[in-house]
Amino acid sequence: MGGVTRTIDWDTDAIVIVDQCALPAEYRLLRLRTVDELIGAIQRLAVRGAPALGAAGALGVALSARTRGTATEAIRADAERLATARPTAANLRWGVERALAALPGGADAVLAEAQAMLTEDERVNRIASRHAADLLLELCARRPLRLLTHCNTGRLAAVDWGTALGVVWHLHAAGQVEYVLADETRPLLQGARLTAWELAEAGVPYRLLPDSAAAAALARGLVDCAVVGADRIAANGDVANKIGTYGLALAAARHGVPFIVVAPSSTVDTTLADGSAIVIEERAATEITHVAGTAVAPEGAAVFNPAFDVTPVELITAVVTEHGVFAGNRG
Ligand code: MRU
Repeated sequence: MGGVTRTIDWDTDAIVIVDQCALPAEYRLLRLRTVDELIGAIQRLAVRGAPALGAAGALGVALSARTRGTATEAIRADAERLATARPTAANLRWGVERALAALPGGADAVLAEAQAMLTEDERVNRIASRHAADLLLELCARRPLRLLTHCNTGRLAAVDWGTALGVVWHLHAAGQVEYVLADETRPLLQGARLTAWELAEAGVPYRLLPDSAAAAALARGLVDCAVVGADRIAANGDVANKIGTYGLALAAARHGVPFIVVAPSSTVDTTLADGSAIVIEERAATEITHVAGTAVAPEGAAVFNPAFDVTPVELITAVVTEHGVFAGNRG
């Protein structure tokens, strides 16, 4: 598997992913040779984050087309199972459908399309995060900047580079980041396990905080700007993102701190007028009742475990894609 540096890629006859369930203890690559293996990896979050899910959907269709040959109906059934493996991130179905559109050209055409999408992912996210970095420098007077983020939006959430953390990479390269406050992101700790790992790897000063401390950090004046990614953006600019994002946006608005969302335009779902119809994934109770396999709640405890929430556009300073500011309260 030498030479694989992307979070998700194609190698000879398999999809290769960085196993995000193993981080930060171990940096391990997994080879996925069947659609069922890929769906399992998506559902246990071994591959996750909206842009990476788009790539996974496209490569999954390529894998199916190679293994099923001319059995078009079976490929379409695989595609539907992939597209519904997780419901909230718009990119998953987008990636599946874009790869599927190449099917009349045969399996090689599907793989070529999927590979083109992987290259495009990095390019587009670099541009979107450049636009957002420029906006932050315009909105915030203090130098260097003190940023707060939620969940993981770096290269691990995409094919490479990332979205909200992509903003950090641009600003850090320009010497404009004092520190990043990274929400740990309950319950699956994408902030602690993945964002902190990426920030450390990049040499960006950071502090990890429990999600419940974010409002206090804003109140104490420790943050110049909050910057997050998105899983689905409605036509009016309402944003579904990792659970806790809405509370963060409320607190940022209360303290007059800009709240910026960065995503590729493939995350925008123009079929939805607003965020009210976004399907929110509900995950297993054990993610709340257990920590690292140990029960932390009484047996049989009832649980509310939505993986995402919706932040209304009026709480968002700007939603930024590769095309620039898409929506928000700016100006
Ligand atoms: O459940 P996850 O880890 O897939 O959720 C990921 C997020 O909510 C990210 O913030 C979002 O996908 C943007 S990733 C660039």
